[in-house]
Amino acid sequence: MALTNGLEVQKEILDAEIKSFFDSAPPLKDSDDISGKLEEFVKKNSVPSGSGEVRRVVCVTSGGTTVPLEQQCVRYIDNFSSGHRGAASTEYFLKAGYAVIFLYRRGSCQPYCTSLPDDPLLESFECTDDSNIKVCQSHSEVVRNAITKTHAAVTGGLLLKLPFTTIFEYLQMLQMIAFSIRSLGPHAILYLAAAVSDFYVPWKSMAEHKIQSGSGPLDMRLVQVPKMLLVLRKDWAPRAFCISFKLETDSKILLEKADMALKKYKVHMVVANELSTRKEEVVVVRSNEKISVRRNQSPGVVDVECPLVELIVGRHSAYIENPDL
Ligand code: PMT
Repeated sequence: MALTNGLEVQKEILDAEIKSFFDSAPPLKDSDDISGKLEEFVKKNSVPSGSGEVRRVVCVTSGGTTVPLEQQCVRYIDNFSSGHRGAASTEYFLKAGYAVIFLYRRGSCQPYCTSLPDDPLLESFECTDDSNIKVCQSHSEVVRNAITKTHAAVTGGLLLKLPFTTIFEYLQMLQMIAFSIRSLGPHAILYLAAAVSDFYVPWKSMAEHKIQSGSGPLDMRLVQVPKMLLVLRKDWAPRAFCISFKLETDSKILLEKADMALKKYKVHMVVANELSTRKEEVVVVRSNEKISVRRNQSPGVVDVECPLVELIVGRHSAYIENPDL
C-alpha cells in the first residue's frame, strides 16, 4: 500500500511538472493546421482495406531538439542527431506497408534523400545553357528515386511530414500525434529516435533579447525537461507499441541504462546504440530478450535500419495478436 502511494505521489509530481512545461511553453504556430492534417491522415489510414486489414501507422521521430536561450532566439543549445536513423527507418516502414508520421528536425535527413550529395541543389544539377538546368548523370538515379518515392508516399496519403526545431515544438507535437493515434489502438507504433533535450530554460524566465556578452561570464539555470515517456505510455497513447532509443558513448553502461529505461518507462522495446557504432549495430532490449542487430554486409543492403525495422514489424505483429503479453 505504501509503495502504491509512493508511486502515485511520484506520478502526481511528474504530471505537475509536465503541466507546468506545457503551460509555460510558447504556443505552437500552425497548431490548427497540424491537428487538421493529423486528423485527416489518421482517418484516411483507419479505413480497413478490401481484405479487411487495418493499416498500421507509425510515428517516427527524428533529429535533435534545440533549447533556445533567448525568446528572440540568437543562441541555442543543440542535441546531436543527423536524422539518418529516422529517415532510413521511415523508408523501411513504408516498404513494409505502414503509414508514417515523420516528426523531424527542420534541415535534418529526409526519407529517400540519404544518398543525395551533401549540397543536393548545387551538386546534383548543372546548367547546360542559360535556360536549361538538368540533373547530372552521376546523380540522376538518386534524384529520381528521391522525388518519385517521396511524391508517391505523400500524395498517396502514406507519409505525413511534420517539422520541429525546439524542444517546445517537439513535445507539443508529439502529444498531438499520440492523442490522434490513440484510436488505432495496438496498430500504432511510436518509434522515438529523436535526440531530445534533457534541460531547458523555461520560456517565462528566458531573456527576451539577445544576451549581451559585455556583462562577463554567463550564469544561467537550466531546468530538467520532464521525461514524457511514462505519461506517453500510460496516458497519451496507452495501447500503442512504444519503442524508445538509448544513446550512450560508454559501451560499459549502455545495456544497463537501456534495461533501466525499459523498466522505468514501461516501453515495449528500447533500442540501445553507441555513438561511434550506431550505423553498424544496435541492440534491441526487451523484458525477455536482448537481440543484437547488425548491418548486413551483403551488396544492396546498406543500413542497419533494414534488419531493425524487419524485427520490429515481426514483434509488432505479435503485439497486435496479443497486446497483453
Ligand atoms: O540521427 P542519427 O545521427 O542517425 O543518430 C541516431 C540516434 C543516435 C540519435 C538515435 O539512434 C538515438 O539513440 N536517439 C535517442 C537519443 C536520446 O536522446 O537518448 P536519451 O537517452 O537522451 O533519451 C532516451 C529516450 O527518452 C528517447 O527515446 C527520448 O525520446 C526520451 N526522452 C528524452 C528526454 C526527455 N526529456 N524526454 C524523453 O521522453
